[in-house]
Amino acid sequence: MSKNNKRTKILLVFGTRPEAIKMAPLVRGFKTLEEFFDTKVCVTAQHREMLDQVLDFFGIIPDYDLDLMRPGQNLHSLTSTIINSTKQVFEDFKPDYLFVHGDTTTSTASALSAFYLGIKVCHVEAGLRTNNKTSPFPEEINRQITGRIADLHFAPTQASKDNLLDENINAENILVTGNTVIDALLESVERVANLKNKITQPISEFIGDSKKVVLVTGHRRENHGEGFEKICAALNYIANSEDDVKIIYPVHLNPKVQEPVNRHLAGVDNILLTDPLAYPEFIWLMNQAKIILTDSGGIQEEAPSLGKPVLVMRDTTERPEAVDAGTVILVGTNKEKIIKECQSLLNDQNRFEKMSKLHNPYGDGKAANKIVNKIKACR
Ligand code: UD1
Ligand code: UDP
Repeated sequence: MSKNNKRTKILLVFGTRPEAIKMAPLVRGFKTLEEFFDTKVCVTAQHREMLDQVLDFFGIIPDYDLDLMRPGQNLHSLTSTIINSTKQVFEDFKPDYLFVHGDTTTSTASALSAFYLGIKVCHVEAGLRTNNKTSPFPEEINRQITGRIADLHFAPTQASKDNLLDENINAENILVTGNTVIDALLESVERVANLKNKITQPISEFIGDSKKVVLVTGHRRENHGEGFEKICAALNYIANSEDDVKIIYPVHLNPKVQEPVNRHLAGVDNILLTDPLAYPEFIWLMNQAKIILTDSGGIQEEAPSLGKPVLVMRDTTERPEAVDAGTVILVGTNKEKIIKECQSLLNDQNRFEKMSKLHNPYGDGKAANKIVNKIKACR
């Protein structure tokens, strides 16, 4: 029997594709315990199409949709509109706890907005650090700010907890939970194992009998401009020089990504550019791939669980666990290095097998439960 008969009001705010995937298990976890929690979801819609794909798959109907995405939006206007728009939501619902995730503009601006109103802030995926303020930009500073504001910190790993302790965050307010991305992945991976539909069909036809499928994604701001020029040049070279290779690249909708990728790679033999895939199709495709080239945070966490080697097109990572385990390598945006590592993994079977060992440093798929139970215990 609860100490407190009044239901605790939980508000989860998120705005981009990865936040939605990683918050979905938590939305479900709180909503299932209706007798304890009055749970509402607010989406800023910092992303639109890419967010809606995730909401559809997980069956989340937002209680508040701020619909803020604008084509080619900038950080200043997005930050200020999120602060102003979430204020109205907070004043309407009056949550006991605000949940934000990770390091996006949505998380940090919402956390700040809640702090101004004296609302308790819970930070999911807390404590990731590169301690380099330009990489990833602006995410490293976003998560440090959110870490300062947060009352409760849900750290995915012991290493992320240690980062928070180094910043003098009180150990009592930190809980190591694993990453909710694994909750989402494990619940979805079996559902999509034999996916066959109008999205997967043409991809399967493109792959044919190839045993050298390379999956690519990229979007980081610090790679815009020169970084993407070099990434595309490397992909072009690999597509033309490697027998039997098939490169599939679901291209992020950011115009700063669309433009260079389409300019360099549209129409190149052995390269298939697609729209961003919905989450089930994307998991299915990760499973078809031999290796993954990406600058994504979430994909670095998912791929080791699927036994897929990852070449990370960044110079820094706040996710050292898979690098330490040898399933992920940092290649930056250096054209020669991308080509060399990619060719080595495609052709050196021993090396491939060493890197493709199944490894799961990011949790057991029960992170959301641990978070919900912690809040239940606080009632
Ligand atoms: C954002 C996050 C980044 C996260 C990434 C996940 C910040 C500062 N950046 O970067 O941390 O890793 O999302 O993908 O919070 N667009 C669309 N439709 C969509 C989504 C985006 O058209 O569904 C286009 C729009 O032109 C938009 C632009 O992409 O203005 C940039 O979106 P934005 O969220 O500002 O930046 P991302 O690079 O997506
Ligand atoms: N993802 C997806 N469709 C795609 C590409 C990625 O559903 O076409 C998923 C992927 O499985 C992961 C998340 O989106 O869970 C990663 O998002 P992104 O790379 O945009 O952001 P980051 O993780 O870098 O913040």
